Amino acid sequence: IKLTCLLLVVVGTVTGIYVDEPLLYDTFPTDFMWAAATSAHQIEGGWDADGKGLNIWDVYTTNASVVLDGSTGQTACNSYYFYEKDVDALKSLGVSHYRFSISWARVLPNGIGQVNQPGVDYYKRLIAALKAANIEPMVTLYHWDLPQSLEDMGGWLNSSIADWFEEYARLCYTEFGNDVKIWITINEPWVVAYQGYGSGINAPGRYGPGTFTYQAGHNLILAHARAYRLYESEFKPTQQGKAGITLNINWYDPKDDQVSSQEAAERAMQFLGGWFANPIFGNGEYPAVMRQKVDEKSAAQGYNPSRLPVFTAEQKLLVQGSSDFFGLNYYTGSLTINKIQDISIVDYSADQDIETSYDPSWYGSGSSWLKITPFGMRNTLKWIRDRFNDPDIIITENGFSDNAGNLDDLMRVYYYKHNINNVLKAIKDGVKVIGYAAWSLMDNFEWGSGYTQKFGIFNVDFATADLNRTAKASGRYYAQLIRDNGFTA
Ligand code: NOJ
Repeated sequence: IKLTCLLLVVVGTVTGIYVDEPLLYDTFPTDFMWAAATSAHQIEGGWDADGKGLNIWDVYTTNASVVLDGSTGQTACNSYYFYEKDVDALKSLGVSHYRFSISWARVLPNGIGQVNQPGVDYYKRLIAALKAANIEPMVTLYHWDLPQSLEDMGGWLNSSIADWFEEYARLCYTEFGNDVKIWITINEPWVVAYQGYGSGINAPGRYGPGTFTYQAGHNLILAHARAYRLYESEFKPTQQGKAGITLNINWYDPKDDQVSSQEAAERAMQFLGGWFANPIFGNGEYPAVMRQKVDEKSAAQGYNPSRLPVFTAEQKLLVQGSSDFFGLNYYTGSLTINKIQDISIVDYSADQDIETSYDPSWYGSGSSWLKITPFGMRNTLKWIRDRFNDPDIIITENGFSDNAGNLDDLMRVYYYKHNINNVLKAIKDGVKVIGYAAWSLMDNFEWGSGYTQKFGIFNVDFATADLNRTAKASGRYYAQLIRDNGFTA
């Protein structure tokens, strides 16, 4: 084995093919949380069952052209009816935790007001089944499926959403908080803000890349903070759990050793992760470099005030320190250089003055944006530690897509092996990583890509109504890794 590795490294170095560093053989801390993750709209189906209200994805996908294969989440993996199959899959993995999300419109059909008891009961059944299997729930409150009634009132662009979200969070803490000890308020606010209200490639499909993007981002941060403070003051003292937020951060490497490229890479990290992390885990403000770029451009473009909102003193107090852990979704990396964009472009992407690319030697996946760059996992974890006061980190997602969904998914095995090994290396570097969740437990509705991109470590037989779940090689590999609690030589 050692000889083969050496050979690969030599060939790789000579030919320029990307080769991973050698594995570290060691174990994880004994109380490390091992999980698999899903989200409500991607797996539940039951889109109009038992009083559930419509969410923005239900409505958005009635226009078949917005999803690559014209599909919807109306049935998906049918977990609303087949959740026991999910629990069986989780049992066979041996995970300690299951990360899933609650569908806001299933429990509050209009987002606020009237509670839908059958919806609440569904999550009680799921949680009871998990508990019976000795699996702890890790629950996301918001994974992109806003009740349509709230979108009709402006959605994440309306600052009242902080009140609406707090009401929803209160219901969830009250109903499920005796059993749920890890809460994630919002999943990937970056995606909600930019892809939902900026580029508009996700529901609700609004377009305002340099304006709505930042307004939605601001409201997402405030809503998160309100839900956190509610938990902290009224529920945590008795329920004794933790609440936090999950951010998507991929790794940006400078493309060359120019100082301007290094600055561009750091800027890209700040615009992506720092945008939300700096207010919550840092100094309570947007990152300095983001402030500077967006303010400068806004002024030149005639926007007054700046397109990037400012936290009032009161908001800053609310937001700063409003997370018990740093939820990280890490998937991939890219290369960055400095590139001054045309000043007339009003767009979050242009605001950054960068250009990104991929190293051609990186292995690809079924998704154009997802390359295999495990070193970026370790670097991202260290980046978070160094800039945001060394928080406890839960990796709430990490995973790999292909188009086939084959059981023999050797690239996915490779992806997990090397990414998880880099988590271990980061822990040895002193980063406080306390848990890891594989995305995803099973193939599911991948938003605008429909069912064409499969992330599961279990295959779902979409051809039959039973929608049976079968472990892929990656699922078996992950189960072994969990049994070993790490890497044995
Ligand atoms: C992150 C999102 O949270 C999840 O919903 C999505 O399926 C994965 N990334 C893969 O794209």
